Amino acid sequence: MEILIVGSGNMARGIGLRLVHGGRRVRIADRDPDKAADLAAELGENAGGEPLDSPEGADVVVLATPYEGSKEMARRWADDLAGTTVVDICNPVDFDTFDRLVTPAGTSAAEEIAGAASGAKVVKAFNTTFASRLAAPGPLDVFIAGDDEDAKRQIADLCSSAELRPIDVGGLQHAGALEAFQLLHMRVQDQIQGNWSTAITFAL
Ligand SMILES: NC(=O)c1ccc[n+]([C@@H]2O[C@H](COP(=O)([O-])OP(=O)(O)OC[C@H]3O[C@@H](n4cnc5c(N)ncnc54)[C@H](OP(=O)(O)O)[C@@H]3O)[C@@H](O)[C@H]2O)c1
Repeated sequence: MEILIVGSGNMARGIGLRLVHGGRRVRIADRDPDKAADLAAELGENAGGEPLDSPEGADVVVLATPYEGSKEMARRWADDLAGTTVVDICNPVDFDTFDRLVTPAGTSAAEEIAGAASGAKVVKAFNTTFASRLAAPGPLDVFIAGDDEDAKRQIADLCSSAELRPIDVGGLQHAGALEAFQLLHMRVQDQIQGNWSTAITFAL
């Protein structure tokens, strides 16, 4: 299975580490090819870096970018993404206030991304797993929402091989609940531990 991760930030690193440790090969694409190459070098011989040119050849594309960037990539690559599994991991949070989601009422980032790349099989996953927890060993729950059963199974298999427990929450209409839930998760971080800490995770 060919996996392309878009972005080379914290989540690209966390997901990349998990997948490589799970025996997968990953492509890292970044608008700055040097950053892609650096992350690929850190992930080891089962990773390669490339410029942000095209998702051609990828069976799974993980958008490890902020909400607006993910929507932009979905729009830009819409034709190439037809039939491809696209993983939306974003939390469309107002990061100035941590008080609201920035998505239009009644929808979700995942549904917006699915609208932008209408032929893609969009799966919401990884939005409740902090990057620091992905980068450290240990089991984590990954909540998955999507309308395409094969695509969800593909992501569930990737999770299972990476010490992650996939939990299918239903169709893409449930992505909004995962996004709203993670907003609360971020808000209560300091109440749980006395300070902001991404070491805490949510598990069933
Ligand atoms: N951090 C977490 O613990 C966590 C947990 C769950 C979900 N998420 C979600 O995961 C996503 C990535 O978060 P992160 O923490 O990994 O962020 P990050 O460390 O800031 O990395 C973001 C990456 O996206 C790239 N990017 C930004 N805007 C872009 C655009 N318009 N087009 C193409 N690439 C763009 C950045 O490239 P440059 O370096 O060139 O700017 C960078 O490689 C976000 O949607 C976030 O809500 C994060």
